Amino acid sequence: TKIKAFQKALLTWYDREKRDLPWRRDHDPYHIWVSEIMLQQTQVQTVIPYYQRFMAAFPTVTDLAQATEAALLQAWAGLGYYSRVRNMQKAAQQIVTDYQGVWPQTAAELEQLVGIGPYTAGAIASIAFNQPEPAIDGNAFRVFARLFEIDADIAKPQSRQIFYDVIKEVISVERPGDFNQAIMDLGSSYMTAKNPDSAHSPVREFNQAYLDGKELDYPVKSKK
Ligand code: ADE
Repeated sequence: TKIKAFQKALLTWYDREKRDLPWRRDHDPYHIWVSEIMLQQTQVQTVIPYYQRFMAAFPTVTDLAQATEAALLQAWAGLGYYSRVRNMQKAAQQIVTDYQGVWPQTAAELEQLVGIGPYTAGAIASIAFNQPEPAIDGNAFRVFARLFEIDADIAKPQSRQIFYDVIKEVISVERPGDFNQAIMDLGSSYMTAKNPDSAHSPVREFNQAYLDGKELDYPVKSKK
């Protein structure tokens, strides 16, 4: 099928070209979570040393749960938006106290943790626990809007469900975490916001907006 061919093209490229990032060395939910929170406001290349420093300071979720305020702020220094790390400590305490240190594996349960929204829950569920959950951030909105010419206005909250339903149809059930991360890599290489290079993309033949010469019309985003 066309979906299988798309998955194969995407994952074959990912296997060959994926970025070697410290949080891609294993499937530990704690590693995935910390990286995803840092990556929400900071570029990949900038995050790497902060991520290493944070893991040296707090190697496990229990260490984070028990950290002093001073150690917490010191480990986050330079990243800004300190509410993120304060929420992370609260979520770490939830995991230790409510789950005896064992991470819940579903996106719905992960979303109950402080500071974990639909994107982060989908990223952890798919990458750490192999659940076929979409992880939809700004880059994923753009990539999927172009691939499938999705006209839903991404400024409208209701549009998330439309994207979610499309992605649910095309996500690899065998390799959902790699699928989501391949989409992230595509969004930061061939399918960037302003200077896409879709002619050379591993999924060019599946990129409907590109094939129609309308790539820069997607995603549709109204002004608020
Ligand atoms: N951006 C957000 N999450 C990412 C990840 N897991 N890998 C690369 N870039 C990302």
